[in-house]
Amino acid sequence: MGAWGVLRRIGVLAALSLLATPLTGPSQAASAKDTLRAVPQGGAVRLSALRDDTRYRDTFLREFDSLTPENGLKMAALQPRRGRFDFTAADELVDFARRHGKAVHGHALVWGLSLPLWLVDHGASDQLGLRLPPIVLPRLPGALGQGLAEGATVLTGWRRDELLAIMRTHIATVMRHFAGRVAEWDVVNEPMAADGGPAPSVWRRFIGPDYVELALRAARAADPKAKLFINEFGVEGPGRKLEGLLELVRHLRARDVPLDGIGLQMHSHILGFHDQATLEHTMRRFAALGLEVQVTEMDVGTSLLDALALDRLARQAEAYGAAARACNAVAACKRFTTWGITDRLSWIGAGEAPLLFDAAYRPKPAFAAVRSAFAPRRAKPAAARQSRRWRWRAGTGARCGWGSCSGLRAGRG
Ligand code: XIL
Repeated sequence: MGAWGVLRRIGVLAALSLLATPLTGPSQAASAKDTLRAVPQGGAVRLSALRDDTRYRDTFLREFDSLTPENGLKMAALQPRRGRFDFTAADELVDFARRHGKAVHGHALVWGLSLPLWLVDHGASDQLGLRLPPIVLPRLPGALGQGLAEGATVLTGWRRDELLAIMRTHIATVMRHFAGRVAEWDVVNEPMAADGGPAPSVWRRFIGPDYVELALRAARAADPKAKLFINEFGVEGPGRKLEGLLELVRHLRARDVPLDGIGLQMHSHILGFHDQATLEHTMRRFAALGLEVQVTEMDVGTSLLDALALDRLARQAEAYGAAARACNAVAACKRFTTWGITDRLSWIGAGEAPLLFDAAYRPKPAFAAVRSAFAPRRAKPAAARQSRRWRWRAGTGARCGWGSCSGLRAGRG
């Protein structure tokens, strides 16, 4: 079992303890009488699979309305050397989407992970001309996770002004490059820690927690037409992390910081998913602050201890159905995206079988649950034609607020 397998097992054990306390929220049940809306359905996509696997491409083109590059727009991919941007693969992916009438959700401009090594080793590798693989740190809970996330930058450090310039240049260069082609962006990914404060990252550490505000302002300046999102996991239900994110949004609103929406990643498991009423309640809280909401990365792991005789696929369909019906019921929810297309290619491993299509591209019960939550999708004539042609051809430590935080080590300068 790989590292992720071990982590997922830990997750399963944690989820088991949740069984005793059902994840129910406010009592008002969501109504079956809700009008069905045609909410666009998205999928996280890998360019290599689009190129190599006809069934992958056909399934995506047939069943999905929009595409989120799974890794292709992350900083490690786009700025492998300091100041040198490489848009070759990203352009291919974005142009593929546009050719087929699919929207692109840009993911993600500023995140503490999937960074190029030169950023986390303070430029040493870049100066030596090394092109090393990006650092993708595993997400571990608690102090160990925090230590790992900060450890990468512990030996060196950035000056605040230097790292700020790097962040602004990255945002401006990427957003201008895709302006008119990518209409919405996760500007800041995963800014929250489990305790409701700022999550550790190179950005938070050396710029300070106001990096969120500065990133959003830079994004609005770079492409005034783009919709700007903060994207987060583990905030779908009640808890300190959700309250912390709401507090951040209120802080940003009070300071007139541009922000259009919140992405709820919705990585879930059959033993620990939220019911529809809870999810609706969360979505409405963001909507009440004037924000759009999207489900941005849903998957539902199905690994189980063998002793539990549960119908995994039925439970998975329940989890997906609850999220999709919540999204349908809240007018501010504008997109429903799963973190992948097929169980064959999921970031948490095929064994979790977490997606809507199985490894042989057959639709699962979860697929029907999602589809029945929304009105039938409007066929896009151009996309449909293209699709047929394709088939034919292919056969801190310190707790602090969200302003600049003097108590925090925010760089040397
Ligand atoms: C994941 C990708 O799916 C993996 O292929 C990659 O190795 C690491 O990143 N939250 C996010 C996504 O915002 O960017 C992550 O994607 C999954 C968790």
